[in-house]
Amino acid sequence: MNVSEAVASRRSVRAFLDRPVDGVLLRRLLEQAARAPSGGNLQPWHLHAVGGEEMLRLKAIMRERLAGGAQETPEYFVYPQQLGEPYRRYRYELGEALYAELGIAREDRAGRLKQFARNFQFFDAPLAVFCSVDRQMGPPQWSDLGMYLQTLMLLLREAGLDSCPQECWSAYPKTIAEFLQLPAERMLFCAVAIGYADEQAPVNRLRSARAPLADFAEFRGI
Ligand SMILES: Cc1cc2nc3c(=O)[nH]c(=O)nc-3n(C[C@H](O)[C@H](O)[C@H](O)COP(=O)(O)O)c2cc1C
Repeated sequence: MNVSEAVASRRSVRAFLDRPVDGVLLRRLLEQAARAPSGGNLQPWHLHAVGGEEMLRLKAIMRERLAGGAQETPEYFVYPQQLGEPYRRYRYELGEALYAELGIAREDRAGRLKQFARNFQFFDAPLAVFCSVDRQMGPPQWSDLGMYLQTLMLLLREAGLDSCPQECWSAYPKTIAEFLQLPAERMLFCAVAIGYADEQAPVNRLRSARAPLADFAEFRGI
């Protein structure tokens, strides 16, 4: 697989097969992904891989949290409070496309919430990697986290694996900090669910849209 193929075939997978992922392979990919660039070579990413019994334990904790309606104070907002256009529309269209694939109607709030809650079982993925960052870091270093994570997700594709980045975990910073035993100076960014895609699952038919080049790039002297 070349880079273009990895880029084109990476997508957020929201249904995984019950098929284990090799821990040795994961270690190698996490190490390889650290070739990602970072400003000043700060390498501000911290990764926490969870699988096996620990994954079962975390899934059980989350089932309990969700059933009990537990709410925690997020440490950052996933989206701006007043999301302007065209971003608002992009987000809306993604939601509509996702729920259309699943046959969940707009008015079916319970159905939508149930699907969203699947995030907290990692869409049945056998493995996940959480990403945390030192609290002293700002937007430039957070962008470095993105570079690491995209590099990882492309390497996963090369290894025949699929993934879903998940910011939803920012809703449970306390639970996850406790589970991962994060030091106080570190905050959670997101998780990446990792496994083999269930190609039969309707949700995995989704192909998210992209704006045309002219909408996000300009060219001078080219
Ligand atoms: C940092 C980050 C966090 C995300 N968080 C979630 C999430 O919590 N749940 C989810 O289902 N998708 C999540 N996504 C997936 C996006 O919805 C997805 O990347 C976007 O719609 C583009 O689709 P694609 O990844 O299939 O190309 C996240 C993506 C990124 C980059």
